[in-house]
Amino acid sequence: MCFLEKYVIKGGKPLKGEVTISGAKNAAVAIIPASLLVKGVCRIENMPHISDTDMLLTILKELGAKVRFIDNSTIDIDCTNVEFGNAPFDLMRKIRASYYLIGAMLGRFGKAKTTMPGGCNFGCRPIDQHIKGMEALGAEINVKNGFVYAAAPEGKLHGSFIYLDKVSVGATMNIILASVLATGRTIIENAAREPHIVDLANFLNSMGADVRGAGTDTIKVNGVESLHGGTYAIIPDQIEAGTYMVAAAATKGEVLIKNVIPKHLECISEKLRETGTIVQNFEDSVLVRASGNLRKVNIKTLPYPGFPTDMQPQMATLLCQAEGTSVITEGIYDNRFKYAAELNKMGANVNVEGKMAIIEGGHSLTGAPVMACDLRAGAAMVIAGLCANGETEIEDIHYIERGYEDFVEKLRRLGADICIAEYPDDTDKKDNVIAV
Ligand code: EPU
Repeated sequence: MCFLEKYVIKGGKPLKGEVTISGAKNAAVAIIPASLLVKGVCRIENMPHISDTDMLLTILKELGAKVRFIDNSTIDIDCTNVEFGNAPFDLMRKIRASYYLIGAMLGRFGKAKTTMPGGCNFGCRPIDQHIKGMEALGAEINVKNGFVYAAAPEGKLHGSFIYLDKVSVGATMNIILASVLATGRTIIENAAREPHIVDLANFLNSMGADVRGAGTDTIKVNGVESLHGGTYAIIPDQIEAGTYMVAAAATKGEVLIKNVIPKHLECISEKLRETGTIVQNFEDSVLVRASGNLRKVNIKTLPYPGFPTDMQPQMATLLCQAEGTSVITEGIYDNRFKYAAELNKMGANVNVEGKMAIIEGGHSLTGAPVMACDLRAGAAMVIAGLCANGETEIEDIHYIERGYEDFVEKLRRLGADICIAEYPDDTDKKDNVIAV
């Protein structure tokens, strides 16, 4: 019989101590495909060791890249001799970020064949803006039977003006990837401004690209002939840091969160301060401390620098402990409140009405068996388990492992009572992994 893993948490202990944040997942999952554009060795530091990056590295290796771990968070990727070919489509289907292979392969080979990225679990997540961008650069795109076929008629893309109808992280980064080796200048208007977009641009520029304006809503890419190897360190993960910040506040603890860029956390810090949590910024760390009653707040998720949708479930868990009624409005996805039912199993009072979650605070949580519905929902259940009276068991933790390096170990070092236990696998859930 096969076994799956679950988290078992005995709640009620405030988190205390220090935690070091890993490299940003959503930067890493673009930078790994970006190394396809480079002829030479890319030494990448601060690479998070999570299942999403592992899957992308496996895909690159299958395509012929040489990948060598220097230490736990530093790798060398050498795509010099990679040839166009079939990648492992079963892996591509499992991971959302495989869409970056469309832009990277088009840039490198003038053609691409990928699967459509993995299924969506918070509403419809089309890639029409990615396709619109690639077509503007001259690619012919065909989506058929779950595959994306792309080709530049003369083997090379050409710069163009692209206005994104929707602010999209993925489309912005994918168009950057496709355009760095194109001829001429590409302008992306209404671009997303997340820190990981700046990070991708900085990575590419350090390898010889000419990407300007990342971090604003207008990005200009002047195509260059080729990219060369180099060394680059990925920025710290904004959402991993935010998750520990919220966990510290929710458990009424005191945690110094190290290896962060406090500016990237401002949207989260400000909302925490509104609840009465103390957040102190230092040069590359933040101290979070909470005691006494938390206050209700209202939140609307928005593209950066707005409050990140990827912190919404964790914040909802915190607000279950606050006094009064808080409202969270989801501004990015159609359906990212599936975790509400799981929280309610633990005694919370969260009512979802369309794109709004109405959270009546002040109900103490009690341990229960619950599921991780997706990566951040899973993190929210962990926070709930840490606050709850009694024991919480969380199944489907493979979602959580996509984005949190050493989650259990880091939490244990902060004093949490959390461990991994096995349970019999009576379903084929592992094959239904939903990409983030
Ligand atoms: N959208 C379209 N058309 C497109 C692209 C996006 O309509 O062609 C819509 C989406 O359906 C969504 C909105 O635009 O409603 C924003 O989507 P975006 O493209 O920004 O998201 P994404 O690239 O699919 C990345 C992260 C997500 C994160 C979002 C928003 C990766 C692999 N994923 O997704 O990360 O929620 O940006 O910041 O980078 C997570 O880490 O938990 C996670 C879900």
